[in-house]
Amino acid sequence: MDYTFSKALAGMNGTATREIFKLTSKPEVISFAGGLPAGDALPVQQLSEIASEFFYDPSAVRGMLQYSVTEGIPGFREVVLEQVKDLGIIGQTVENVLITSGGGQGLDLLCKAFLDPGDAVLVERPTFLGFLQTLNSYNARTVGVEADECGIDLADLEGKLLEYHPKLIYLIPTFSNPTGKTCPLERRKAIIELASRHGAIIMEDDPYGRLRFSGEAVAPMKAMDERGVVVYVSSFSKTISPGLRCGFSIGPSEIIRKMTIGKQGVDLHTATLSQHLIKRYIEKEFFLSNIKRSLPIYKERKDAMMNAIKRYMPDSFKHTDPEGGLFIWGEFMDGTDTSAKFPFAIEKKVAYIQGEVFYAENAKKNALRLNYSNESPERIEAGMKALGQAFS
Ligand SMILES: Cc1ncc(COP(=O)(O)O)c(C=O)c1O
Repeated sequence: MDYTFSKALAGMNGTATREIFKLTSKPEVISFAGGLPAGDALPVQQLSEIASEFFYDPSAVRGMLQYSVTEGIPGFREVVLEQVKDLGIIGQTVENVLITSGGGQGLDLLCKAFLDPGDAVLVERPTFLGFLQTLNSYNARTVGVEADECGIDLADLEGKLLEYHPKLIYLIPTFSNPTGKTCPLERRKAIIELASRHGAIIMEDDPYGRLRFSGEAVAPMKAMDERGVVVYVSSFSKTISPGLRCGFSIGPSEIIRKMTIGKQGVDLHTATLSQHLIKRYIEKEFFLSNIKRSLPIYKERKDAMMNAIKRYMPDSFKHTDPEGGLFIWGEFMDGTDTSAKFPFAIEKKVAYIQGEVFYAENAKKNALRLNYSNESPERIEAGMKALGQAFS
């Protein structure tokens, strides 16, 4: 049988990364390829305590096992709005919030709300692979904007706003995936100014902002958005558990309404039980305390990787030094091709992701992404030693 699949998925190159994950799932391989939160940071005890409480009372749990409304279970959006106030996101009502199935669904629904085939979307170079795939599925025209060590380049952004008239600008301003970079306050303000002047919506993707283990916090762009140009898309995947598949978007009520309509046709609502678990978890004040407990784990792992880079990687390897999040980005100034080197790394039982997958076009061949969050400091040291040998 010949299957005639849609054009929407034809452009997606899932194979390379799927192969990598197959290789890295072997326990003998030290993996810097994934983006998992630290296993030790998952709040197993608190969640099991809450779940036991729920299941102890059959009449209460029955509602949690039922269908619910698309926007989010009653009371949860209010809890989310309370929880983001310390980030400076204030003055919002429940009409401005949608609970989503992971942060990724918020990104997808925004595309669904705005994009027709061929519409332009600006993304930083490099950017989150998952979002590039989402854009492909909407047949969008993805346009990369150059970036420096502080994020997106303002002159290139303005030039591309004028040339392509994009509907959306996608940014991960804090601890970007894949680079770990954070965009400073003044540049955030300038981006908002440019976007509003050119009528583009900013998708501020912020799954990592709370995972800051050093340096000074920078407010989310949503906190300085006076004109309704920013939609804040976040997730509990890295701060509580990715398996619960729960995130949220905060934006102008017209946009949230459109996203809600889009969600109704996709999964009706985010898993009711996950929402109840997270709502109760935040109400019991576990949220910030568990993040606080997990930050030293991330810092220790990032420090272990930075030290091992110094010790084992060649001098031509230039890299970021993130103050939070999960990733370090590196480029070989001598032009070393990181895809060509990948089999050597796997032979030495260590894995990374080659940088080229994070570009929509004109990919850099000499780059790679390293994840430090899900391996112990000892395995990071051993893995980087092996990686240094693979690249020597
Ligand atoms: C930048 C970025 N955005 C969104 C997501 C998706 O998050 P979720 O697992 O909550 O859908 C990820 C996950 O790795 C990510 O790195």
